[in-house]
Amino acid sequence: MNSFFVPEGGPYLLTHSVGCLPRVAREALDANFVRPWMERGGNAWPDWLGQVDEFRAALAQLFGGTPGAYCPQSNLSSGLSKLLLALPAAPAGKRILLAAEDSFPSLGFVLQRAGRSGLETRLMPRAQPPDDIRTWSDALTSEVRVALVTHVHSNTGRVAPVEEIARLCAERGILCVVDVAQSAGILPLNFPATGADVVLGSCIKWLCGGPGAGYLWIRPGLVEDLEPVDVGWFSHADPFEMDIHSFRYADDARRFWGGTPSVAPFVIAAASLRHLHTLGVDEIHAHNRRLVDTFREGLSARWRARLPAWPIGGTLCIALGNEFDDVTRALNSAGAQFDSRGDVVRLSFHACNTENDALLVARAWRGDR
Ligand SMILES: Cc1ncc(COP(=O)(O)O)c(C=O)c1O
Repeated sequence: MNSFFVPEGGPYLLTHSVGCLPRVAREALDANFVRPWMERGGNAWPDWLGQVDEFRAALAQLFGGTPGAYCPQSNLSSGLSKLLLALPAAPAGKRILLAAEDSFPSLGFVLQRAGRSGLETRLMPRAQPPDDIRTWSDALTSEVRVALVTHVHSNTGRVAPVEEIARLCAERGILCVVDVAQSAGILPLNFPATGADVVLGSCIKWLCGGPGAGYLWIRPGLVEDLEPVDVGWFSHADPFEMDIHSFRYADDARRFWGGTPSVAPFVIAAASLRHLHTLGVDEIHAHNRRLVDTFREGLSARWRARLPAWPIGGTLCIALGNEFDDVTRALNSAGAQFDSRGDVVRLSFHACNTENDALLVARAWRGDR
């Protein structure tokens, strides 16, 4: 039996949007959120907060570092807003926030609003490939204060050389912030080893943890320099001190938390993260590559030549040009669950998928019935 609830229909290829619910996560929501509430009401808080601790511990288990370096967030955009407002005053001469033009627009919006605090946003044009280190080497000029690096781009699948970019940022005194929304859970990844200063992610896609369970990881040693503005009692060193005259930041990433936290998304996500750890991200990655190969082998030589070049993340993003209507009609009639951006069709193979899914999609693509 599949350990995920896979929506009925043909192959489910939408993990780049929403990963399937692991069976264990549904049970965890009932056992660790709903039941304590039913049975203990307000006394459920110790159980609920314990679950958020489990979420942080599960992140540390999957991505390295300590649980204290992770702070729950509702999504990447709000994590990025909080981070930018928490930075110390800009050193003289530094006034640019840098990102690639095909970064996820929501994060671009955050950078643009940060412009109000005197930091201008510069977008590297699409023509300069963000997966080429030379693009970054040229763009990371002395004015740049913060670089936002998308590890895997959602509409192309391209993979940025995060470690090399982080090394350049460190040499040039630039804060390196990495968006792992499309890589966490499908590419093997250890946050401390990337050399990044901050990593922003969420669990909705390849981590199969549903919406609402985002996170912020902060490099050890950096957190003391960051003073978030958007705080609440759960950002306090002692949330239960309750002295309105005394706010002291938590000494770890928890200072980025806020007021009374949401709990249910983190209960679901903690169970999903543990499930992915049990399956093994290395193994899931290898499974993705096998299914991509099966799909590729099932295509005609003409189509094989049009697949994106490696390295890519988990999603095959294939530009169809004027063949878009024919191919998507065939995929739809095979019941495939996929989406598109412009003329680019996006197909994601994850742990919930089988060899048969890859064969079915290739057959539909070729036009077999
Ligand atoms: C690369 C990337 N970053 C960020 C996001 C989402 O950001 P947020 O969690 O703020 O909605 C997505 C969603 O598709 C994405 O693909």
